[in-house]
Amino acid sequence: MQKPILVSGIQPTGRLHLGNYLGALKNFVSLQNTNKYECFFFIADLHSMTEEFTPKEKAKQIIELAADFLAVGLNPKKATLFAQSAIPAHNELAWILNTMTPMGELRRMTQFKDKGGDQETANVGLFTYPVLMAADIILYDAKFVPVGDDQLQHLELARTLARKFNSKFGKTFTEPQPLLTQTPRVMSLDEPSKKMSKSRPPGCIFMDDSPEEIHKKVMRATTDSESVIRYDIQTKPGISNLLRIYSSLSGELIPDLEKKFAGMNYSELKIGLSNLISNYFAEFRKNKKEILKNKKGIISALSAGNKKASKISAEKIKKVKTKIGLI
Ligand code: AMP
Ligand code: TRP
Repeated sequence: MQKPILVSGIQPTGRLHLGNYLGALKNFVSLQNTNKYECFFFIADLHSMTEEFTPKEKAKQIIELAADFLAVGLNPKKATLFAQSAIPAHNELAWILNTMTPMGELRRMTQFKDKGGDQETANVGLFTYPVLMAADIILYDAKFVPVGDDQLQHLELARTLARKFNSKFGKTFTEPQPLLTQTPRVMSLDEPSKKMSKSRPPGCIFMDDSPEEIHKKVMRATTDSESVIRYDIQTKPGISNLLRIYSSLSGELIPDLEKKFAGMNYSELKIGLSNLISNYFAEFRKNKKEILKNKKGIISALSAGNKKASKISAEKIKKVKTKIGLI
């Protein structure tokens, strides 16, 4: 029996952070390792072109993200790892879906609004971004898509478009479902009302930060004046975020952490957390350094995945075109 298909992508826009890890990447690895799914993980390089870049920078970001994938434990023998831009069918399907997507639906997308997409000078790619994302997913008939909660609205569009195509042209696509982790939204350490993002560097822990950098950022994390270590997202968003991160990395439940840290002060929690993060990613840092020494190895891992994804998606797009009447 064919295993359920699982697809997800990450944009190569710079170093990955704790939000990317706890919201998505950690799940990629554990889902891959269950051996229950046919997994496709890709570098969303076309999506990343909606932000400013230089060619040199982009090439480096793609290699770095591929190294991140490998260093964290994604395994080309267990999952298909590929680059979106190497697979023409993503764009072909995106165009077809573009012709079925009302502008109003795209204008409502919060990511589009947040990125200032409605301005005259914004690139059109930002507007049609969710349509390409829908194509990425339904092209492989993904049943599951592991993502952070900021992508849920985009995923809903993918479902809508799959349904719309099926009802217009006959059953062709699977409707995908999101898979969230226990931490679908990691908050910024310095501003716990905002999500962790590399655009807010002081509150953002990168997966390959040195122990010193991790320590500095965690010790400066915003807390409150109560001096009691307990979980309360409303009145103590900073401490609650730290507890959540602690819990996700250590596997301890939050009530157990409240007991463990009872009577201690905030800096004791922060020191504990900073050591935990440093140790947790020690192997990743080492692996990444090693993997980056062999760029040829990275490129050949990607080419193998590109080949496999090309073959599968070319067959699918052929079927799609036949359904539409494109001969
Ligand atoms: P991106 O870097 O935008 O391609 O995001 C890669 C993945 O990380 C997506 O699944 C996002 O939803 C997820 N992600 C990004 N930031 C966060 C965050 N602060 N908390 C949880 N997940 C996140
Ligand atoms: N938009 C996603 C993000 O910013 C990246 C992405 C592109 C993606 N295509 C996808 C994620 C398909 C899941 C499935 O995180």
